[in-house]
Amino acid sequence: MSLLTSAGLIACKNTTSSPALSEDKKYDTVKGKPIVISTWDFGKEANEAAWTILGKGGKALDAVETGVKVPEADPTNQSVGLGGRPDRDGRVTLDACIMDHNYKCGSVAGLEHIVHAISVARLVMEKTPHVMIVGDGALQLALENGFKKENLLTQKSEDEWKEWLKTSKYAPVNNIENMLPGGKYNHDTIGMVAMDTDGDMSGACTTSGMAYKIHGRVGDSPIIGAGLYVDNEVGAATSTGVGEEVIRIVGSHLVVELMRQGYTPENACKKAVERLYNRNPTAAKDLQVGFLALNKSGECGAYALQYGFSYSVRSGNENTIFKAKSMFPEKKKEK
Ligand code: GLY
Repeated sequence: MSLLTSAGLIACKNTTSSPALSEDKKYDTVKGKPIVISTWDFGKEANEAAWTILGKGGKALDAVETGVKVPEADPTNQSVGLGGRPDRDGRVTLDACIMDHNYKCGSVAGLEHIVHAISVARLVMEKTPHVMIVGDGALQLALENGFKKENLLTQKSEDEWKEWLKTSKYAPVNNIENMLPGGKYNHDTIGMVAMDTDGDMSGACTTSGMAYKIHGRVGDSPIIGAGLYVDNEVGAATSTGVGEEVIRIVGSHLVVELMRQGYTPENACKKAVERLYNRNPTAAKDLQVGFLALNKSGECGAYALQYGFSYSVRSGNENTIFKAKSMFPEKKKEK
């Protein structure tokens, strides 16, 4: 199926199924330029903000920064920016990175008190000779450059953290994402990549990280090559889920390199998930990691360990949420 829209051609094609895939049937690839894609359902609103720039012929770099600022400023999103779940000491610490079409990149980790960590990452990229600045140094840089100091811990996140403290015994726990109230996965991280009308690609990734982590823990999101990678000749990729697993395989860089070898975005994501799974199948069964990728032809795709990873695609007049294929099917609810 293909749709001709004012902004170009969107081609949607079903890809082949495999026994290991989830049961969801919406396995589409969207093709076009400009295009912006992002992780999870909440990426849809972020895409819309990015489109205010991309749709007018603006730069992908400006689009991804503008896009991810939406969930960063949303106090009801408890995995990104304001309202993010705190670490085990009750401190909200943010990780973010940004990368342009020229291998320029900037990153912050363990940043407190600043809503728009992504803009501080861009500041690192554009105004310093460094790639990554962490903790107090990142806060100092932000304050010196006019960012406002704020309390990021909302009442809801504080109440939930206090509830968690009652049973946590304040001890680090493996796979904590599975242990949120209700046994839900902690849907973390917005990763966004875009290609503008010039065909240039950029990406951004921002998160409050794993809920109730040990203070100082850094995930994949601010690590160039793990949470995000952009190679303007080939494509771009980003990740969500348990960052430790993504770091071990330098996941987003791996996805881009697989696309360089000729894999489609979806198959590159699938290969990366398989690499992760093969390293430790027992652990992989109980945790979530998802990859999302866009190639230079404007094709995008995703793949996750567990059922339930969604991603949002804005191209032409469409802003659509897709369900990613996964290695494991939907877990049946216990009665
Ligand atoms: N993927 C986000 C994190 O692990 O912090």
